[in-house]
Amino acid sequence: MNRVENKVAVISGGASGLGKAAARLLAAQGAAVVIADLNEAAGHDVVAEIAGQGGRAEFIRLDVTQEQDWVQAYEGVLARHQHVDVAVHAAGIFIAQSFPSETDYELWRKVMSVNVDGVFLGTKHAVAAMQRCATPAGSIINLASIMGLVAMPGRAAYAASKGAVRLYTKSVALSCAERQLPIRANAICPGFIHTEMLDSAARTLFDSYEEGVAHYSNLQPVGRLGTPEDIARAILYLASDESGFMTGSDLVIDGGYTAR
Ligand SMILES: NC(=O)c1ccc[n+]([C@@H]2O[C@H](COP(=O)([O-])OP(=O)(O)OC[C@H]3O[C@@H](n4cnc5c(N)ncnc54)[C@H](O)[C@@H]3O)[C@@H](O)[C@H]2O)c1
Repeated sequence: MNRVENKVAVISGGASGLGKAAARLLAAQGAAVVIADLNEAAGHDVVAEIAGQGGRAEFIRLDVTQEQDWVQAYEGVLARHQHVDVAVHAAGIFIAQSFPSETDYELWRKVMSVNVDGVFLGTKHAVAAMQRCATPAGSIINLASIMGLVAMPGRAAYAASKGAVRLYTKSVALSCAERQLPIRANAICPGFIHTEMLDSAARTLFDSYEEGVAHYSNLQPVGRLGTPEDIARAILYLASDESGFMTGSDLVIDGGYTAR
């Protein structure tokens, strides 16, 4: 219990899926969580749920692609809490694409903007905010994907965006270490996890939703999809001081998908 007591954690994409599960678990383990998301209704619902269980949570409406939103978000967080210790960047989008010569540039840019620019801007302003704290320290946790390690057809922008997140995160980790700044940065590479993102792909890319979910489930050697909680537990570990020697790493959690 209380593995992240007294820490303040900003979670982009905290209104749904992996970000929501992380918000619930970090709050249950003693953190004050700031849910930063475009989806106001869902974000407020998560805050109410956490508060109802005695946890500390607040919502900030933020578009991860807008730098000014990040500036304002961290001004507010520092004014209210005086410190920030954890930044989880879980906002992301998936758009399936077709053959390279038929790929739409606007869709490519949209995926890159949210998945790469959003992580860059969030990390930039999280590090800046952590540097302003009385005791500058922190943990940056960026959601990449196994699609940043191995690819699939029709996933060009998504795979490229997640590969970029992995290497960007390593560079951030090394830059902080070079300055002897105790800010760690790690990426998590989840496999296929049952969230709204996967449900949406199952609904749109298959003849039926059930067929889509069965297809994705069968991709794992362990024969099931991951749950958001499977990933939230890794986020808790990276957020806590237990992972103090871990920086610049990829944590792969995929039911054995990439072991073959
Ligand atoms: N679900 C999976 O199988 C899976 C696998 C590997 C990696 N991931 C990655 O994990 C992260 C979370 O995925 P998820 O499955 O929880 O997705 P999700 O769709 O359930 O949740 C994503 C959240 O991001 C928010 N968001 C989207 N664009 C935003 C923007 N511009 N500004 C602010 N918020 C925005 C959405 O409102 C939503 O609340 C993503 O980066 C995703 O690529 C997911």
